[in-house]
Amino acid sequence: MSNAINKGWWKNRIAYQVYPRSFCDANGDGTGDLKGITSKLDYLKELGVGIVWLSPVYRSPMDDGGYDISDYEDIDPLFGNMADMDELLAEAKKRDIKILMDLVVNHCSDEHPWFQKALREPDSEEAGYFWFAESPDGPPNNWRSMFGGSAWENVGGDRYYMHLFSKKQPDLNWENPKLRQRIIDMVRFWLDKGLGGFRIDAIVHIKKMEGLPSGPADGPDGMVGCYAYTRNVEGIGKFLTELREQTFDKYECVTVAEAAGVPNEQLVDYIGEKGYFSTMFDFSYSEPYNYGHGWHTAKDPYEWDFDAWRDTLYASQLSTQKIGCGATFIENHDYPRACQKFVPEKDHCPEVQKMLGNMYFFLFGMPFIYQGQELGMTNPRFTSIDQIDDISTKNHYRTALADGLSPEEAMRLCARYSRDNARVPFPWDDSENGGFSPAGVTPWLCVHPDYKTVNAKAETAKNDGVFAFYKEMIRLRTVSEYAETIQNGTFAPILQGEKQLIAYTRTGDKTIAVLCSFADSAREIVLPFEAKKVVLASKDEVKIDGNVLTLLPYQSVTLEV
Ligand code: NOJ
Repeated sequence: MSNAINKGWWKNRIAYQVYPRSFCDANGDGTGDLKGITSKLDYLKELGVGIVWLSPVYRSPMDDGGYDISDYEDIDPLFGNMADMDELLAEAKKRDIKILMDLVVNHCSDEHPWFQKALREPDSEEAGYFWFAESPDGPPNNWRSMFGGSAWENVGGDRYYMHLFSKKQPDLNWENPKLRQRIIDMVRFWLDKGLGGFRIDAIVHIKKMEGLPSGPADGPDGMVGCYAYTRNVEGIGKFLTELREQTFDKYECVTVAEAAGVPNEQLVDYIGEKGYFSTMFDFSYSEPYNYGHGWHTAKDPYEWDFDAWRDTLYASQLSTQKIGCGATFIENHDYPRACQKFVPEKDHCPEVQKMLGNMYFFLFGMPFIYQGQELGMTNPRFTSIDQIDDISTKNHYRTALADGLSPEEAMRLCARYSRDNARVPFPWDDSENGGFSPAGVTPWLCVHPDYKTVNAKAETAKNDGVFAFYKEMIRLRTVSEYAETIQNGTFAPILQGEKQLIAYTRTGDKTIAVLCSFADSAREIVLPFEAKKVVLASKDEVKIDGNVLTLLPYQSVTLEV
């Protein structure tokens, strides 16, 4: 079977994403920090986590939540200092938890000394680390940045620089070998500290299309989305191979690429035996909707094409398992909470969240859990743009207003789609601020209105809560009699004629079948095999009569067959 999943220490581990700003505020300044994370390692251990990915904690002006780095080799004072990082690594090691940092090297911050020098001295070595261009007639091309507006910013006269994200995130020019060497040195600096590896941000964008050509406008602004010109562009392999050979290959580390849009036939280059990375996130099923150049142009997520979505998921599994190990997930810091994406509001309940967890957790690949997912957190129901910090949400809001939506309509969309939905402080208990920050402190982002009932203390005390369900899924995947099957078994879709059903088998030394109903009423399913045993169910009641399984609304059932 697949190479990558069968070797390396990271095999058989469950990964958990911490959004450091919002996990635990140990020093009482309203922002989560490294000491806070260290203080909660036992909670993660209890859940069964073996790898923790930290969203960026480097020095940063926080224009994009830390994905704008002004010093790659220092910790932002918001999160603590290098001694705190060393302490976190040491304490995690004691608990056999590996720490991954976020490697953000498509761009840095405009406050990085390299960029500052490049601005001051256009002939300096550092100026060559970026994409500067002289252009007398406005921006050098019509690319739209991913956060809206031109991908070029003027710095006086005819001089512009490229930024695929915000204007405070200038793109690094990977064509320049000196820049690549600086990145290699920095990656080694962290790996030498004993880091477990990296989640690698926006890495498919490091190569830009030769000649930086303009394209046909795809919106009323006359611009064209920069994706087609900057994503997985031919020639990127040279940079990624060099990075791997000069850094990752020399260490026992795991690398998880944020690599959306890689065609199936190129998966082998990314995660095959000699691939650039250990694994990469599978985005094929992470959002059921596609919102063009503004949220108001999105198709309503609850009317999405279920069959097309399901087929994409299946196709991705079928092609990935032949090649390597994908990283599976349903939530991260860039999306609203999963139940909001997949299930109408009226049906939300902890059992639905268990079903969604079950749906992806036993797929072929390495599962990632996003903080709070194991508590069954939902969107916090934002009502005012003043509650929002996220740069991308603010841009969408402005675009919606500019396109004629009322502030109320625009806000309704933000409440549904904003990335801040997943970024509100983690609720530890029912005390003020959900125990995230001490009483009397105002956290950087509002506390979830449900923190009194949905919090870690309450959830871990339940035998049948979402936390207990995740813990059981982790046990099944890592140490149970089904572990080999769930880790390495072959994926095969089943019952494809059934509506609103995700159903698949995994066959290794045993065979399990996972059935997840997205229907809001009970249904009978004729099983194409004999059910030997119920391994897991999102609702306790499981009725099997001969070969007929009754699935309750939004129920998931995992069977040994
Ligand atoms: C992907 C990250 O997940 C997202 O949060 C960030 O805004 C962009 N990359 C830019 O770094």
